[in-house]
Amino acid sequence: MQVILLRFWQSTIGKKVVMAVTGIIGILFVIGHMLGNLTMFKGQEAMYDYAMLLRTSMPLLWAARIGLIAAVVLHALAAYQLTMMSRAARPTAYAERRPQVTTFAARTIRWGGVLLLVFLVFHLLQLTVGVLHPDFTHLDPYNNVRIGLANPLVAGFYVLAMAALGLHLYHGTWAVVRTLGIARPSTQPLKRRLALAIACIVVAGFTVIPIAALLGKFAPAPKLVDASAATALATPAVETR
Ligand code: HEM
Repeated sequence: MQVILLRFWQSTIGKKVVMAVTGIIGILFVIGHMLGNLTMFKGQEAMYDYAMLLRTSMPLLWAARIGLIAAVVLHALAAYQLTMMSRAARPTAYAERRPQVTTFAARTIRWGGVLLLVFLVFHLLQLTVGVLHPDFTHLDPYNNVRIGLANPLVAGFYVLAMAALGLHLYHGTWAVVRTLGIARPSTQPLKRRLALAIACIVVAGFTVIPIAALLGKFAPAPKLVDASAATALATPAVETR
């Protein structure tokens, strides 16, 4: 079994299948995360509920986190190794190269992927760990996003990363279908309506957040010091003398 898995991983098609499967995990994650983040527009309580929903079961959350990390590592490793294999197969570049079918998204997929990795590390350090945040509060994602993304440099970086994500999704969603043979090769390979729709929806859904934060559209809210403060937010405190 181990030998079969190793042979599969060492083959070009094996790596492509690994990229496709881990890519699907990534696509599903970003769609879910984008929908969850849109609760920013509902306010602090809704955003807190979203954070708590993710923490319904800590073992499950950690299983999902480890699964996601493994998917990202395998995806990036397979991409790197495929690039190296392709370079080794043709050490001298073509004098002239005119691909029959290509897009800007396909040509920028590798550098876009590197940018997304850099974004992901920054993003986790900023909004999950909180070390790259000027005023981070554990379990207060509303204020963390509102304050963290109001910085023009940070908001600009988010918008740039979301553009890279859109291009990556546009090419990647189409490539998944090709690699796994889910649909027959089209006679119009540049007509990719599903890939375009997914990319546009995800980019729009994510990008409105840094823009709204930059424009100060999220109303200031008191910090949630801990979970009990969140309960107090849901049930307004009765003043006692
Ligand atoms: C405007 C864009 C985004 C916003 C506002 C945002 C917001 C957040 C917030 C608030 C958290 C912390 C959640 C919590 O601890 O409860 C988080 C975690 C995370 N985000 Fe994002 N995010 C954005 C884009 C992205 C993108 C594009 C990706 C992937 C490419 C991503 C991947 C992650 C991951 C992997 C986590 C860690 C989840 C965990 O701790 O279990 N985010 N994000």
